[in-house]
Amino acid sequence: MDIVFHKSGNVFHIMNRGFSYIFTVLKNGQLGQLYFGAPLADRDGFEHMLVAAHRDMAPCPFEGDGDFSMEDIKQEYPVNGNGDLRNVACVVETPDGARNADFRYVSHRILPGKPTLNGLPATYVERDGEAETLEITLRDDLLDLRMILSYTTYRDLPVLTRNVRFVNDSIAADDGSTTGGTDAADADGTVTLRRALSASLDLPDAHWSMMQFTGAWARERRPQTFRLHTGVQEIYSLRGHSSHQFNPFLILKRPNTNESAGEAIGAALVYSGNFLGSVEVDNYHVTRLMMGIHPEGFAWTLRPGETFQTPEMVVAYTRDGLNALSQSFHTLFRTRLARGYWRDRPRPILINSWESTYMRFDEAKLLSIAGKAHELGIDLFVLDDGWFGHRDDATSSLGDWTADRRKLPDGVEGLARKINDLGMMFGLWFEPEMVSRDSDLYRAHPDWMIRVPGREPLQGRNQYELDLSKSEVVDYLFDSMSAILASGRVSYVKWDMNRSITDVFSQGRPAAFQGELLHRQILGVYALYERLTSALPKVLFESCASGGARFDPGMLYYAPQGWISDDTDAAERVKIQFGTSYAYPVSSMGSHVSAVPNHQLMRVTPLKTRADVAYFGTFGYELDVNRMTDGEQEQMRRQIAFMKSHRELIDTGDFFRLISPFDESEVGLQPGAEAAWMVVSADRRHALVGYYRMIMPVNEGYRTLRLAGLDPAETYTVRDTEFPLPASRFTYGGDELMARGFDISDTGFGPFTTDMYQGDYLTRLFEVDAV
Ligand code: GLA
Repeated sequence: MDIVFHKSGNVFHIMNRGFSYIFTVLKNGQLGQLYFGAPLADRDGFEHMLVAAHRDMAPCPFEGDGDFSMEDIKQEYPVNGNGDLRNVACVVETPDGARNADFRYVSHRILPGKPTLNGLPATYVERDGEAETLEITLRDDLLDLRMILSYTTYRDLPVLTRNVRFVNDSIAADDGSTTGGTDAADADGTVTLRRALSASLDLPDAHWSMMQFTGAWARERRPQTFRLHTGVQEIYSLRGHSSHQFNPFLILKRPNTNESAGEAIGAALVYSGNFLGSVEVDNYHVTRLMMGIHPEGFAWTLRPGETFQTPEMVVAYTRDGLNALSQSFHTLFRTRLARGYWRDRPRPILINSWESTYMRFDEAKLLSIAGKAHELGIDLFVLDDGWFGHRDDATSSLGDWTADRRKLPDGVEGLARKINDLGMMFGLWFEPEMVSRDSDLYRAHPDWMIRVPGREPLQGRNQYELDLSKSEVVDYLFDSMSAILASGRVSYVKWDMNRSITDVFSQGRPAAFQGELLHRQILGVYALYERLTSALPKVLFESCASGGARFDPGMLYYAPQGWISDDTDAAERVKIQFGTSYAYPVSSMGSHVSAVPNHQLMRVTPLKTRADVAYFGTFGYELDVNRMTDGEQEQMRRQIAFMKSHRELIDTGDFFRLISPFDESEVGLQPGAEAAWMVVSADRRHALVGYYRMIMPVNEGYRTLRLAGLDPAETYTVRDTEFPLPASRFTYGGDELMARGFDISDTGFGPFTTDMYQGDYLTRLFEVDAV
């Protein structure tokens, strides 16, 4: 890892074993992008990579030089007003209405390690030697505005993180007003950021396919791949949270790149609010990738002396296919984005009350489920929605975080004590950001609701959004939640969020504030998370938003695991976990075995199938154990023991996607008929393979399953965990398992064929161990 500045040509070279990133100071003082890709040996003289040409109608800063125009020069951080007529990363507006800025290079510094981002989640280092940071200061002298572009590269990961800071250097107005909330035009030197994206990257050609991860409730993060076309292709959220619809993550890959080979760039935004991921191909075949806070509705007033910090964008590069790209994100997110006590600890196996009781329960019912669950080896009982205020359905009580004594006569603490006495941990559901109109909180503080005065606000699930841009709201939530959690008996919090934000207006605040509200709302969520996780460092937080509507890198900083979908059907979960795995580590994916018929789809799948899917996640149950037969309970006991003994491999191993549930993977099989993935230990001596055959083909031909990530020189045994057939007497070369694979036909012949696997929704789990 190294960051080098070549003074002769004003060239910066950021490099590590995985990539090189090169850019230069242009003759107009702005920054031009030269190269991002496979590592290049450092040397003087990369300046020739700057290409510019005379283009008709291009706006040019220098008379007599028609070749130099920001219109077609590849840039580091394009700004409005300099002749770049594509979408830019930043738009600055002055009180007179002008929208021109001209930031020029002033200085730079290279520091060991990585500074934190004030108020925002971000990747971090534990030791300075792990990473190096380049900070480049540019300045617009007319506006007295400084822009600091920050780049960090990690020693051991092919990732580059970027963010931008704007500092208003003007002298404060006479009234000394330097705080948020007054009219932009009032104070001298005040500017408005109308667009302030986190980073921009101009690539020299358009020969890419884009992968986006898209969906809706219960079908989150389905990969979609398409060739780039001239113009803009976007992923975004305008919902106030990162959303079910698009995840703040995308991949640009060469069209022939697959899981095991080829070039790809991944980009993720460490943010949980409105976002934009934009890929624009211009008419000279330049591809511009940008990510950041969505500019729609955003307007940030930056007064003299104030600083604005963008969220962080993470970019990863590979030449070795999508599995390698994903593994870089997995390692970064698992070890240098997630934080805290639970980051590296085996997560408790939990049972959640939602699908077993919904809001209809009493203490005896909960204790009977917990008691049985404990007998089977489950570590943590989680009480979901319905325990507070007088909440029997979704029409009331959000905001009133005190126990409903009708259901819990001894309060949360009493129930928690009884659960603890069983030898189990206790966890609790909250939905902090919301308020019901039928609540004491709303009656006391109607002005805490986000709504436009004089208009009837839209409801979502009969609930409304609290205004977390107000510090008194964050204080109230912190106090009421910590009062419940302070007993020390609550070890886990499920933090839910079940509606999108509309009626975007902060009551009592001036006009200039309203364009800041949605970002300040997310800053309020982060501040509350930060206070709670600092005050209660051993409590495990799991994020949730109607399943996966806010499963994003920002949340991982506070909650090392998240409920990735409300869909608990095994067949659908394979798809959701598969899509999620492009960016997120297995250790972050909340995954439960639920009852059949499944509550979302009414589909019936075997208990083994449900567990074989859920193992590749945090693992837990969401069903009434008392309704399970003795045989099923025995099976659960074995599943729990299996998860506990394989947890470390699953959480920390390298994850490989093998067969996509979205492809027409094999001749003769329907799309989505099967899927497979595996995890391999760091020393490559152990692996666990999940094979999911959803639709059984008839009289099928021979089938082999090829593995990945093994040591080609090693010898392995392969064992079906359910039917350890005599086949375990065979051994296989690692090279053979990866080049040829092993037989999984249903023909009744061969070491792993068995007529036990007849029917739909059948799965197989193989343990692969070095001899
Ligand atoms: C959301 C969550 C569910 C459950 C319910 C409770 O839908 O995603 O897991 O907690 O709310 O109301």
